Amino acid sequence: MHLETFNLYKHFTTRQGQLLVLKDINLHVETGQFVCAVGASGSGKTTLLRLIAGLEMPTSGKIMVDGKPVLGPGAERGMVFQSYTLYPWMSVAKNVGFGLKLQGVAKSLRSQRVAEYLDVVGLSQFANAYPRELSGGMKQRVAIARALASQPKILLMDEPFGALDVQTKATMQEFLLDLWRRTGTSILMITHDVEEAVFLSQRIYVLTARPGSIQQEVQLNLPPERTYTTRRQPNFQHYQDEIMDLLRTKPSPDIA
Ligand SMILES: Nc1ncnc2c1ncn2[C@@H]1O[C@H](COP(=O)(O)OP(=O)(O)OP(=O)(O)O)[C@@H](O)[C@H]1O
Ligand SMILES: [Mg+2]
Repeated sequence: MHLETFNLYKHFTTRQGQLLVLKDINLHVETGQFVCAVGASGSGKTTLLRLIAGLEMPTSGKIMVDGKPVLGPGAERGMVFQSYTLYPWMSVAKNVGFGLKLQGVAKSLRSQRVAEYLDVVGLSQFANAYPRELSGGMKQRVAIARALASQPKILLMDEPFGALDVQTKATMQEFLLDLWRRTGTSILMITHDVEEAVFLSQRIYVLTARPGSIQQEVQLNLPPERTYTTRRQPNFQHYQDEIMDLLRTKPSPDIA
C-alpha cells in the first residue's frame, strides 16, 4: 500500500468569500506504517481526511493509492469518524456489516466477517446489543470493527478517541496499537493530542494553523514496542516539546 498526496489545496466557498483551508499538502503513508497528523482546531484535519477518504474533492492537487487516483470512497480506505456515527436503530452486528451490505457482499460471508471483526475488537458478546447500550469506548471499537470489516489497506482515523475520558483513551490507545500489530493495516490518524501522536505513531506531520499546511515531518525514534514505559523515555518528552513548540509557531501570513 502506498498512499500519497500531491500539492493538495482545498478552498470552501462561504458567505464571506473563498476560505483556504488546506495549502499544498504533500504526505505519504507506506504499508504497515502508523502515521499521525497533528494540528490546532480548524487547521483542516477533518477536511484532509475527508479528501483522502474520497468524501470531498480537492480544489487542486491529487491523491494516489497504489498508483490509482482517488475519485471517491473505496473499500481499500476505511474511515473512523471524529464523532460517534453508529446507526442507533441497528444492532452492533448490523452496524459492523452495513458497509459490506452496501458493497453487495453475500450474507454468509458478511456474517463471517462481522463475527471475525467483532472478535478482533473484543465485542463478540455485544453483537445483538444496540449502540445506546454501549460505553463511548465500546462505540468507537464498533466503529473500528465496521471500518476493518471491509478489509481496507489503510485505516483513516479522525480523532477517534477525542470524546473519551483519560483512562478509556489510554486503554483504547493500547488496544489500537495491539490491533495494528495483529492486522498489519496501515493507519493515518488525525489528532490534536500531541502526547497521543507521539505514543502511537512512527512519523508525525505537524500542520500549521489555517490554512493547514505541513510545517514539519517528525520521525520518531522510540522503541517499536510501545507500552506505558514508553512515556517515561527521556526522548518521549523531548518529541512532545518539539511538536508543541512547532504548533505554537505562527504561520507566515497568507492570502487565500
Ligand atoms: N463544508 C464546509 N464549508 C465551509 N467551510 C468548511 C466546510 N468544512 C470545513 N470548513 C471550514 O474549514 C476549516 C477547517 O475545518 P476542519 O473541520 O477540517 O478542521 P479540524 O482541523 O478538523 O478542526 P477540529 O480539530 O476542531 O476538528 C474550518 O474553518 C471550517 O469552518
Ligand atoms: Mg476535525
